[in-house]
Amino acid sequence: MTKIAFLGAGRMASAMVDGLLAHKAALPSELACIGGENGTARLLGERTGIVVHASLPALLQDAGTVVLACKPQQLSSLDPRVAELTAGKLVLSILAGKRLARLGQTFSQARNLVRTMPNTPGRIGAGITGWSAQSPLSPSDRDIVNTILGSLGKMVEVDEAQLDAVTALSGSGPAYVFEFAAALRDAGEAAGLSRAASYQLAVETILGSAKLMAQSNAGAEELLNQVTSPNGTTFAGLKRMEARDFRGMVKETVLAAKTRSEELSQDS
Ligand SMILES: NC(=O)c1ccc[n+]([C@@H]2O[C@H](COP(=O)([O-])OP(=O)(O)OC[C@H]3O[C@@H](n4cnc5c(N)ncnc54)[C@H](OP(=O)(O)O)[C@@H]3O)[C@@H](O)[C@H]2O)c1
Repeated sequence: MTKIAFLGAGRMASAMVDGLLAHKAALPSELACIGGENGTARLLGERTGIVVHASLPALLQDAGTVVLACKPQQLSSLDPRVAELTAGKLVLSILAGKRLARLGQTFSQARNLVRTMPNTPGRIGAGITGWSAQSPLSPSDRDIVNTILGSLGKMVEVDEAQLDAVTALSGSGPAYVFEFAAALRDAGEAAGLSRAASYQLAVETILGSAKLMAQSNAGAEELLNQVTSPNGTTFAGLKRMEARDFRGMVKETVLAAKTRSEELSQDS
């Protein structure tokens, strides 16, 4: 019997399937997908051995859980029979900006709805996903949500009203880190390094520092103090960051993204 049906078979659905199979949380025969017209479902099926269906009734017949993983703008063009076909099922959406109220219009007979906001590192199992359910989850549905989102990395449950903030921080956050990496690379070049060496130093510094933070009981400030001796080199660099109000700029960045997320999900 198919346990989890994926509506959409693109990058994120593929990452979830890969994670579920790698963690042995499901067998290929327990996962199924459907795609649009570009052949992604066929490719995913060929690569992983999961079941590929050409019609929604066939896909959803045996599934207890449905993962909505198409593009947000494709939601309104889904086969209208999807409401009936998902009756009594758990529906988990990864669509950016589609609120539970909007999802509830399409999946009106689902046993529960979960709205999630994953991020790009989920594609290598190193993501973090914020999520919120329409009604309190039963213990078994909570297990299902943990298993599915665990395929992308870590997760945090929040009130739905906080999902715009999650979008602004961890959803858009990888781009801020990429921008920071590019800035470090350019700065390293300005300081006399080759572009390639500078990029490698920047990426590994971000990676190592993030791992150290994740593995340490000390908070960011404490770790920062540990590497900053009075009037030393790091101190000199940090003084410039403070003078240019780095934290204020990061706050503005996240709040601007949150405002945009609110605007985009206004009518959805
Ligand atoms: N990428 C990220 O990091 C990220 C982060 C957070 C949230 N999200 C959300 O994740 C969702 C998927 O993103 P993605 O990057 O995986 O997109 P994607 O690679 O473009 O995948 C979209 C999938 O939907 C399929 N599709 C199109 N029309 C369909 C239909 N009518 N019924 C069923 N499937 C249909 C496409 O099939 P064909 O291409 O074969 O036509 C494709 O398999 C988006 O809603 C996005 O908001 C993504």
